[in-house]
Amino acid sequence: MRTLRAVDEVREHVAAAGAAGRSVGLVPTMGAFHDGHVALMHAALERCDEVVVSLFVNPAQFGEAADLDAYPRTEAADAAVAEALGVGALFVPSVAEMYPDGFATTVTVGALGEVLEGAQRGPGHFAGVCTVVCKLFAIVAPDVAFFGQKDAQQVLVVRRMARDLNLPVEIAAVPTVREADGLAMSSRNGRLGPADRERATALRAGLEAARAALYAGERDPRAVEAAGVAAMAGAGVTPEYFALVDPDTLEPVHPGAQRVLVVVAARVGPARLIDNLPLDLEPVATR
Ligand code: PAF
Repeated sequence: MRTLRAVDEVREHVAAAGAAGRSVGLVPTMGAFHDGHVALMHAALERCDEVVVSLFVNPAQFGEAADLDAYPRTEAADAAVAEALGVGALFVPSVAEMYPDGFATTVTVGALGEVLEGAQRGPGHFAGVCTVVCKLFAIVAPDVAFFGQKDAQQVLVVRRMARDLNLPVEIAAVPTVREADGLAMSSRNGRLGPADRERATALRAGLEAARAALYAGERDPRAVEAAGVAAMAGAGVTPEYFALVDPDTLEPVHPGAQRVLVVVAARVGPARLIDNLPLDLEPVATR
């Protein structure tokens, strides 16, 4: 595996792959690999001939300096994981390489980036994500880019950006990987002490309570949300948001909606965690 730090090196690497008729997959990451990242890399290695994994803790998408500072940086361990899986290149740029002096451009996607995570973390969050992902697409020119479904809003925002800007890349969403007790894998889970780690299962409990309410025939979104919030309260966690939204637009759903995305975010001790559950209610209605 090659570790590349300069944009020009990456361009040469993928140009050689393209000249050989090899498809290129990109897995954008901020490092601190866990099994969720491994699933992204597996998916990329299955679909594409050449896989580039980027590892860049992007300051532009962090609102709080403390969150950026606390973000784990484990390049050597990450490189070992990627190499063992068969990844061809790891792109590890510096902040100056990605944002050189005078950098002034920002990419935003409007309302889709302003709700839920955008509302909680500030509109700069998805502007930071879009700007860095747009740059990575321009640098790596991937045929397919792989993102985790855990960050459902990020997947939608990146798809919208790619569509609106006619970027010739397919956005593939890879299912969320969970711990045995249902907690979605996240680099932030490592910040949880034993008591908070226990409380963190509240997010999954809330989602499952919403699923149970919907499957029991409850169609009032407010009542379903209340069931989820109550389940979380039982575990001692109050969500920042818990909502039933349209899986394409993220707008609040109406009571008859058949496709629903249940989304949740909560602070648990030192970590801010998110999770979601996509549900197709049609089979339930006909049961
Ligand atoms: O999901 C992440 O790790 C980041 O938001 C991403 C897509 C790598 C952009 O910095």
